[in-house]
Amino acid sequence: MSGQPTTMEAWTKVRDEAGGFDLMVHDIPVPGPGEVLIQTKATSVCGTDIHIWKWDDWSRENVPLGTITGHETCGKVAGLGEGVESHAIGDMVAIECHLACWACPRCDEGNAHVCENGSIFGVHGNGAFAPYFVVPAVNARHVPAGLDPAHASIQDPLGNAIHTLTGGPVEGATVAVHGLGPIGLFAVNAAKAMGAAKVIAVDWDNTFRMELAKELGADVVLGKGDDVVAMILEATNGRGVDNSCEFSGSPTALSNSIRSTRMGGYVNILSVYGQGEPKVPMNEVVFRYLHLKGINGRKMWSTWDTMHDLLTRGAIDVDKVVTHRMPITAFREGVQLAMSGECGKVVLDFDA
Ligand SMILES: NC(=O)c1ccc[n+]([C@@H]2O[C@H](COP(=O)([O-])OP(=O)(O)OC[C@H]3O[C@@H](n4cnc5c(N)ncnc54)[C@H](O)[C@@H]3O)[C@@H](O)[C@H]2O)c1
Ligand SMILES: [Zn+2]
Ligand SMILES: [Zn+2]
Repeated sequence: MSGQPTTMEAWTKVRDEAGGFDLMVHDIPVPGPGEVLIQTKATSVCGTDIHIWKWDDWSRENVPLGTITGHETCGKVAGLGEGVESHAIGDMVAIECHLACWACPRCDEGNAHVCENGSIFGVHGNGAFAPYFVVPAVNARHVPAGLDPAHASIQDPLGNAIHTLTGGPVEGATVAVHGLGPIGLFAVNAAKAMGAAKVIAVDWDNTFRMELAKELGADVVLGKGDDVVAMILEATNGRGVDNSCEFSGSPTALSNSIRSTRMGGYVNILSVYGQGEPKVPMNEVVFRYLHLKGINGRKMWSTWDTMHDLLTRGAIDVDKVVTHRMPITAFREGVQLAMSGECGKVVLDFDA
């Protein structure tokens, strides 16, 4: 180990206030049994990182001061804990941030993404706005050979998009995507790549993202000036779409998505609703015989398999959604840019 660094500088949430991150010196972590040490290549900025930056009530309750945050990441295996045989030094991996116990009833039934004893890497414990981190080996997923680190790091939000889409039919189906943040944009592109017959993309006032959705293959793009429900019905022979995906966090969009889904159709909701409980038109859900489903994280590992396939085939245009790449030294600027909304995905590179 001589010549290897033993300490690192990492972006750390240190102060009980908005912002409140400093570059702090930490020991490079040592992988425990079943864990791997990863040398970070790229970490992207998630909406969750924005919540933590704003230091809202949820963040105060979930993120201990002193935590190195960042969870959408990829890198190279740099160390193996005792008993790890699934990985070798130098392997390129991307991280599934839901850490599961693999022993509770939810894990047993194939729903480890909602493990009863789960925690989130880079939220509840140290993460990847750091040059090194440790994770359980099972959470370090091998990436297709030669994949650009930016494409590898965004598999967490891309996986959110695919998990949401696949809560209903996609191939040959009409799909509406409500909310064109990075996850909604990935969903537009993935829905087309997975053979959707028609994709209707809806935002409120973010014309930058609406333009991107068009470039990513949306057949119809709607915004605040449009009667969203009427126009979705019009675009689907009066029926409504087969599969509505809600990524905006807006109660209006939730209501719109329920009212514009066909009889017996699917409404899949990834959004987290910030201000109060949204009003849900329940009678529409009942009389339209809708399947209403909450989505969390990614399926382990079927969502990852679908992503692996799409990325290997080059079927999705990740570069269009990744609008900005910056060095990790520009962490604060990267979070602020993501907060402005004048971007798709912002990726922070460690080799830049
Ligand atoms: N459940 C999970 O596991 C999970 C994981 C990650 C993110 N999320 C949630 O998913 C959502 C999407 O994340 P993101 O980072 O892509 O979002 P984002 O906040 O970057 O984007 C939301 C978009 O919705 C648009 N919007 C606002 N009102 C709208 C309306 N009435 N109709 C249509 N669009 C409207 C905004 O203009 C914006 O472009 C967020 O609510 C986030 O908290 C959930
Ligand atoms: Zn995330
Ligand atoms: Zn479990």
